[in-house]
Amino acid sequence: MVFVISTVNMKGGVGKTTLTVNLATSLAKNHGKRVLVIDLDSQINGTLSLMSPHEFAKTWNCTMSI
Ligand SMILES: Nc1ncnc2c1ncn2[C@@H]1O[C@H](COP(=O)(O)OP(=O)(O)OP(=O)(O)O)[C@@H](O)[C@H]1O
Ligand SMILES: [Mg+2]
Repeated sequence: MVFVISTVNMKGGVGKTTLTVNLATSLAKNHGKRVLVIDLDSQINGTLSLMSPHEFAKTWNCTMSI
């Protein structure tokens, strides 16, 4: 059984990314679920919460400054 959970709100800074990252982490670590986080936000805050900027740069074989 696959569940799709979306965190969407028109207002900025209301905790969408925080909720997404913590929910995904809890489902994986505490409940043994396989979780795929799809970060559609160009700010990539969710992505950089789950992997370091260095690791991200290596993955995409590019240079970036943060
Ligand atoms: N439950 C909470 N209690 C207190 N602070 C929170 C809570 N959830 C998120 N925050 C804080 O609120 C701020 C905004 O959170 P977050 O970046 O998750 O929002 P967002 O909706 O993803 O923002 P954006 O629209 O810019 O993507 C962050 O500083 C975060 O640490
Ligand atoms: Mg966000």
